[in-house]
Amino acid sequence: MRVQVAIIGSGPAGLLLGQLLHRAGIDAVILERQSREHVLGRVRAGVLEQVTVDLLDRAGVGERMHREGLIHDGIDIHFGGARHRIDFRRLTGKGVTVYGQTEITRDLMNARAAAGLATVYEAADVAIHDFDTDHPRVTYRKDGVSETIACDVIAGCDGYHGVCRASVPAAAVSTAERIYPFGWLGVLSDTPPVSPELIYNRHERGFALCSMRSRTRSRYYVQCSLDDSAERWSDEMFWDELRRRLDAKAAETLVTGPSIEKSIAQLRSFVAEPMRFGRLFLAGDAAHIVPPTGAKGLNLAASDVSVLAEALIAFFAGDAHGVDTYSARCLRRVWRAVRFSWWMTGLLHRFPDADAFAHKVQTAELDYLVGSEAAMTALAENYVGLAL
Ligand code: FAD
Ligand code: DHB
Repeated sequence: MRVQVAIIGSGPAGLLLGQLLHRAGIDAVILERQSREHVLGRVRAGVLEQVTVDLLDRAGVGERMHREGLIHDGIDIHFGGARHRIDFRRLTGKGVTVYGQTEITRDLMNARAAAGLATVYEAADVAIHDFDTDHPRVTYRKDGVSETIACDVIAGCDGYHGVCRASVPAAAVSTAERIYPFGWLGVLSDTPPVSPELIYNRHERGFALCSMRSRTRSRYYVQCSLDDSAERWSDEMFWDELRRRLDAKAAETLVTGPSIEKSIAQLRSFVAEPMRFGRLFLAGDAAHIVPPTGAKGLNLAASDVSVLAEALIAFFAGDAHGVDTYSARCLRRVWRAVRFSWWMTGLLHRFPDADAFAHKVQTAELDYLVGSEAAMTALAENYVGLAL
């Protein structure tokens, strides 16, 4: 088999890249380690910047998102018993769209199937070769049979634990990392959200986030310890803990019900540089991870892919400028989002080693934030993506 682009990974980055390349007449195959159902079963991000929404429109997959997505004009921040609204629309002229990563993935998979494009699910032992030459190759096994794909370019969209970044010689890549001393326990439930917009709660017992997927489906998170396990938490324990961390009005109106998914995510900041190695290009979580507090992970994956699709389209038309500048263009935005996500995480979580001074300074910073137009504007510009 021979294609122009071999895409490794069918998360949002790989699928979106496949769709953008297809619309430009470039042929690609996607190799995915897991089954389609497994990929669709992973509950992850939910908040889209306007540039991500625009990109999904350009990819021709925005129809259901516009029908079912919820436009949010701001968020609430709760601390010390009071809720404060950050009005994105007034401060920046922009809002965000709440539409689940699972739904984006489904829309992209459906578009790919409708166009008859090749995806190999449950591809085992994917390995990449010769990406430092003009003739890279990808090998894998499917149903016990070994296969080889010759290509011009490999797109590493295989997430943090993928094979692509791991195949680069250690001396060629530099990494920077922070692992946070807590996780997020998330619950999905078919219950109406506690409030029409997201509430970010800073509480002595730990952070909590009230998010949603629709007007009838809620997504909630509570900060938990690193050694915790989702199995340890009954639904009742989760709702009790969440309720304790909310303001009085939210605690009173919270509607609970059976969880339909419950999982723990670790919080990490990570960047690998550069994002290009010869004919191998990393995009999304394969190159960088941010803690979910700023809702940036999926949006960063989409912006990498936007830059990469444009660069590859020019490359196949004989212009290498875009591929030569790909890494630098992406990393500027990546580091801005890393900074914002790190800052939001520090602002809202309880750190196990925080003393009275650290706690008071955190309170003072929140107090300053909600009293300052400039500080609220800075948060809003980063959250909606304008400042990135
Ligand atoms: P992924 O979605 O990770 O896709 C990579 C794909 O590559 C996967 O399908 C994987 O199976 C496949 N793959 C891996 N290795 C191989 C291999 N060797 N061969 C073939 N295929 C391979 N962001 C937010 O903004 N908010 C959130 O609440 C949030 N929650 C998250 C919770 C969890 C548990 C995780 C892991 C991430 C979360 N994120 C969140 C981040 C966001 O979901 C990611 O930034 C986004 O999924 C990145 O998309 P991607 O396509 O780059 O990577
Ligand atoms: C969601 C996750 C986030 O990290 C965030 O900041 C906002 C929303 C969510 O899963 O809905």
